[in-house]
Amino acid sequence: MKQDPLPSIAEKQTFVQGMFDRISPRYDVVNRLMTFGLDQGWRREVVRRLGLAPSQRVLDVACGTGDFLKLLRSSALEPTGVDLSFGMLKHNHSETSLVQGSALNLPFRDSSFSGITCGFAVRNFTELNVVFSEFARVLTSGGRVGILEVATPANPIIRAGHSVYFNHLVPLIGGLISDQTAYRYLPQSVEYLPPYEELQTMMANSGFYGFERTSVGLGAAQIIMATRS
Ligand SMILES: C[S@@+](CC[C@H](N)C(=O)[O-])C[C@H]1O[C@@H](n2cnc3c(N)ncnc32)[C@H](O)[C@@H]1O
Repeated sequence: MKQDPLPSIAEKQTFVQGMFDRISPRYDVVNRLMTFGLDQGWRREVVRRLGLAPSQRVLDVACGTGDFLKLLRSSALEPTGVDLSFGMLKHNHSETSLVQGSALNLPFRDSSFSGITCGFAVRNFTELNVVFSEFARVLTSGGRVGILEVATPANPIIRAGHSVYFNHLVPLIGGLISDQTAYRYLPQSVEYLPPYEELQTMMANSGFYGFERTSVGLGAAQIIMATRS
């Protein structure tokens, strides 16, 4: 499969915004196909693990087309979504409160949410230290964060199968249904994702504790939960 050079950090935010604007009309259908529909169960698990009471406010950072927002609302929570891409927001189907903005500079007051969810977006951000400080700033003390991200399976046999699927089949299917460049970028973007230990250190430095990491989808994805001090 052809490899494109990854955008530099300076170019990344503009590249990512343009890419999600382009793929937004077909984002949901490709996502369900790629994860065999398992992604919704993983999101549900993140919402459950937030452990929040009804009516508490939750910010879904990089909300995209709104899958997390819908689940949060159906759990009687009060969700708000923020995303960089106007295209993704236009195709958001959650009927919840939406704001265009960047995770690097969240357009919300300090301590305004009891929870944050963030699905499949961490590797798309630049300056993760800034993002995690922003998460901490907008959360109340004791607030919960739940991150869902791709991962590399630990088992070598599963890893080999997953590599063929993720590096070859996903770009092929995504290219046929949606946008070839974007779905070639998807597996490559994993290079931007720091190992869990590094993410944990960055989050701890921003004021989070009580980390729990769970592998899901045979190790193809991970859930990271933590609490704001
Ligand atoms: C792979 S999609 C995930 C969407 C959604 N969270 C989900 O679970 O399906 C990544 C999202 O991150 C958004 N994004 C990327 N960089 C961002 C940033 N700096 N601030 C806010 N959103 C960003 C993109 O626009 C896109 O909607």
